[in-house]
Amino acid sequence: MLTVTVCAAQPARTNPFHGSAEHIDAGRATFRIYCSPCHGIRAAGGDGPDLTRGIYEAGDSDANLFNVISDGVPGSEMSAFGGRMNNNSIWRIVAYLRSVTQDEPPDIPGDASRGRQIYQGKGGCSSCHRIAGKGGRLGPDLSRAGRTLGLARLRESVIAPNENITSGFDKVTVVTTTDGTIQGRQINIDNFSAQLMDSQEQIHSYLREEVRSIESERTSLMPSYAAVLSASELDDLLAYLVSLRGE
Ligand code: HEC
Ligand code: HEC
Repeated sequence: MLTVTVCAAQPARTNPFHGSAEHIDAGRATFRIYCSPCHGIRAAGGDGPDLTRGIYEAGDSDANLFNVISDGVPGSEMSAFGGRMNNNSIWRIVAYLRSVTQDEPPDIPGDASRGRQIYQGKGGCSSCHRIAGKGGRLGPDLSRAGRTLGLARLRESVIAPNENITSGFDKVTVVTTTDGTIQGRQINIDNFSAQLMDSQEQIHSYLREEVRSIESERTSLMPSYAAVLSASELDDLLAYLVSLRGE
C-alpha cells in the first residue's frame, strides 16, 4: 500500500504520451496559451529560450523537461506551472516539444570567433555588457544569452533595441534641483526617491524633494547596429551570441 501511495505522488519518469498525435495537439494548444508569449508560437524562442534545439540547460531527458516546467527556474521569468496544470497537461507539452525538436542546431551562417572580435572591437558591446564577469553594467549580463534568448530576439536586440526593452533597463531622464538633468538606466524609483545609473556607471540617488521631474522612456540606452554592421558581420555576431551558454 505504502509503495503505491508514494508512486502515485510522483509523476511518471517516462512520458505516457510520447509520439501520440492527439496528445501532441493538446500539448500544442496548451503551449500556445501559456508558453508562447515568451517562447514563441512555434517554441523557437522569443523573450525566453528556443525550446526546439533538443538541448536544455535543465537536462535533456523528458523527466528533466517535466521538472523544469513544473518547478520553473528560480530567479528567472520562467515560473512554476506545476500548480496551474496537472501532470498530464505537462506531459502533453513535453510530447509537443519533442515533436518540434530539430536534431540539427539552428543554421547560423556566421562565424562565432569573428563575432567575438566584433563584440569586443567594432561593436563596443563590452562597454555596456558583461560576459563571465567582464565588461560594463549599463546593459544586461550576456553570459547566458545564447540559452536564455532565442535567435530572433538576439537579432532584434542588436538591430532594433527599442522594439523590446529588457525589463529593469528602462531609460529614464531625471531633472534635479541639484545636478541638472541626468539620464541613465532606472535602478529604483518610488514615491520617496530615485536611483539611476548613468552611462559612466555612476549611481545617482535623489530624494523626492530634489527631483523636478522623472520621465521614463520606452527607448533603449543601447544604440541600433542596423546601419553599423554589414549583414555578414551581423551573422558573425549572432553566431557568437548564440554560443554564450554560461559555464
Ligand atoms: C514569462 C515568460 C515565460 C513563460 C510564460 C514561460 N517561460 Fe519557459 N522560460 C522562460 C525563461 C526566461 C527561461 C530561461 C530561464 C533561465 O535559464 O534563466 C525559460 C526556460 C524554460 C525551459 C528550460 C530550458 C532549458 O534550457 O533548460 C523550459 C523547458 C521552458 N522554459 C518551458 C516552458 C513551458 C512549457 C512554458 C509554458 C507552460 C513556459 N516555459 C512558459 C520564460 C518563460
Ligand atoms: C551604450 C550601452 C550599450 C551598448 C554599446 C550595447 N548595448 Fe546591448 N543593451 C544595452 C541596454 C541598456 C540593454 C537593455 C535595454 C534593451 O533591451 O534594449 C541592452 C540589451 C541587449 C540585449 C538583450 C539582453 C536581454 O537579456 O534581454 C542584447 C542581446 C544586447 N544588448 C546585445 C548587444 C550587443 C551584441 C552589442 C554590441 C554589438 C550591444 N548590446 C551594445 C546597452 C548597450
